[in-house]
Amino acid sequence: MIRRGVILAGGKGTRLGELTKVTNKHLLPVGPYPMVYHPLYKLTGAGMTDVLLVSGTEHMGDFVELFGSGKDYGCRLTYRVQDEAGGIAQALGLAELFCTNSRAVVILGDNIFEDPLHAMMADADKHPDWAWVALKEVHDPGRYGVAELDGQRIIGIEEKPKNPKSNWAVAGIYVYPPDVFQVIKNLKPSGRGELEITDVNNYYLQQGRLGSTKMTGYWTDAGTPESLLHAHQLVNEKLPNYK
Ligand code: DAU
Repeated sequence: MIRRGVILAGGKGTRLGELTKVTNKHLLPVGPYPMVYHPLYKLTGAGMTDVLLVSGTEHMGDFVELFGSGKDYGCRLTYRVQDEAGGIAQALGLAELFCTNSRAVVILGDNIFEDPLHAMMADADKHPDWAWVALKEVHDPGRYGVAELDGQRIIGIEEKPKNPKSNWAVAGIYVYPPDVFQVIKNLKPSGRGELEITDVNNYYLQQGRLGSTKMTGYWTDAGTPESLLHAHQLVNEKLPNYK
């Protein structure tokens, strides 16, 4: 089954204050590029020629101006508007037609990571009808989705837990089989009023269809002033491996 790339670059970006007053978080610089280049280069570097970018109405024009058809970036780009920031799973739901009969390789637009996608893709390919997530050990797990582990096996995932059951964050890089869109249609909004990607992952876990790959290189999100600065420093020290 072919794979298609999805970049989720919507959301409100409120945590960055004045930095995102007139622009979109994903257009801010991280190292030598606008933030959104990093997920795009990961997807094209892993051989994906068809990529969907989801963002809100406010700045979609800027993304189109930046990337155009994608021809200068080695891919064919498709764009979809998320009318309101109703959550990561809601944004992914917009990829349904784009991903007909294919698996979706999804990257959150503010996730910056060093490893190329190949190891995770090779792992995920062993179970084409499973969902697959990337794990990274962090010192502040409460900011993320956190995996509870039994050895190498994930036995639960909690979104931003007060008392994290491990230091293993679920990073914003996912592979899903085509039935993910049915799963999303059955989700209920969380306490923060969003359709949560963690609920999608827990669905696959309950089905015995969730796998994971541990990342070895650096990983961070870039959605807060501190993490944006950290991402910038990491990338300036060592450019991510795109191939
Ligand atoms: O960074 C990894 C973490 O990302 C995961 O560990 C969490 O499980 C996951 O829920 C998510 O946590 P955040 O709360 O930090 O996600 P945030 O709201 O910052 O959104 C991350 C990206 O997803 C953002 O760059 C844009 C995209 N997004 C988000 C929302 C809420 C959309 O495209 N649409 C949306 O409605």
